Amino acid sequence: MRTIDWQDHHIVAIDQTKLPSEVVVLEIFTVERLVDAIQRLAIRGAPALGVAGALGTAMAVLGEPAHLDRDIAALRAARPTAVNLAWGVDQALAALPDGRDAVLTAALEILESDAARNRALSERAADWLTAQVDGPIAIQTHCNAGALACVEWGTALGVVRSLHLRGLLRHVYVDETRPLLQGARLTAWELADMGVAHTLVVDSAGATVLARGLAQAVVVGADRITANGDVVNKIGTYPLALAAARAGVPFLVAAPESTVDPALASGADVEIEVRDGREILGGLPDTPTLNLAFDVTPADLVTAIVTEDRLVRPATGERLA
Ligand code: MRU
Repeated sequence: MRTIDWQDHHIVAIDQTKLPSEVVVLEIFTVERLVDAIQRLAIRGAPALGVAGALGTAMAVLGEPAHLDRDIAALRAARPTAVNLAWGVDQALAALPDGRDAVLTAALEILESDAARNRALSERAADWLTAQVDGPIAIQTHCNAGALACVEWGTALGVVRSLHLRGLLRHVYVDETRPLLQGARLTAWELADMGVAHTLVVDSAGATVLARGLAQAVVVGADRITANGDVVNKIGTYPLALAAARAGVPFLVAAPESTVDPALASGADVEIEVRDGREILGGLPDTPTLNLAFDVTPADLVTAIVTEDRLVRPATGERLA
């Protein structure tokens, strides 16, 4: 099934907090429940957040007019870092002058076009990677940028999928992705489903995987890409980019155009979500925490950014806007 969908006037979505042990489907009828699902990461991943923002906006517009402004503000603020969420809200809301039904039509267009966008960027990235690296490729990835982070297909794992279907993929190294284990729980689950050979490593092993020559490329998704090519993604991505540069392997970012934020000059302008310290506390309950959910990989470490429309090489000074 799709990760997120619209059925009979409501949102249905896989509850990603329950994976991999259970596949639970959420039925969401209100913006309040949607915001809660986004904040506890039941619905997560930048493209899926874009769809959730758009469908949530349609839900708000079709609901009680007195609650519209409150609902839109709550949706926008549900999570701050992935630009796709506010983008989805804005795209859907822009149709309001054409009537309430037009807002739903705009939201459904974002939902329906997700898979084709992901396929297009995946094929472009797979073409590029096979031109850079000889033979079947081993890839290292971080977090989950698969079908579960989108509606279908995936971005970074979409590239993996494309290479696998071409018979050009050897292996995937999966970072566990502390603290919520999107790699261990979600990416490993998707790769097993695809029949892709993969190995799970702890996050702190990422640099060693590359130093040992076990992977010939790093492929990740993104939550926001700024005008200069800085890439904001799950915490732990930046160290992987440093390690990739040291190992001399390409660091490729696969993301739809909706993740590009040309209004922000650099990653320093992006609000990085700080989550509840209880997610990382393993010992003393009163230990102070700084639970940063994302980091910024500077453009000079980003070999290529591939979207459904283009391939940009920030490390050579190319800009996105
Ligand atoms: O906190 P999450 O799980 O929403 O973080 C997700 C990521 O960092 C993904 O890599 C990113 O959204 C790209 S998903 C195609």
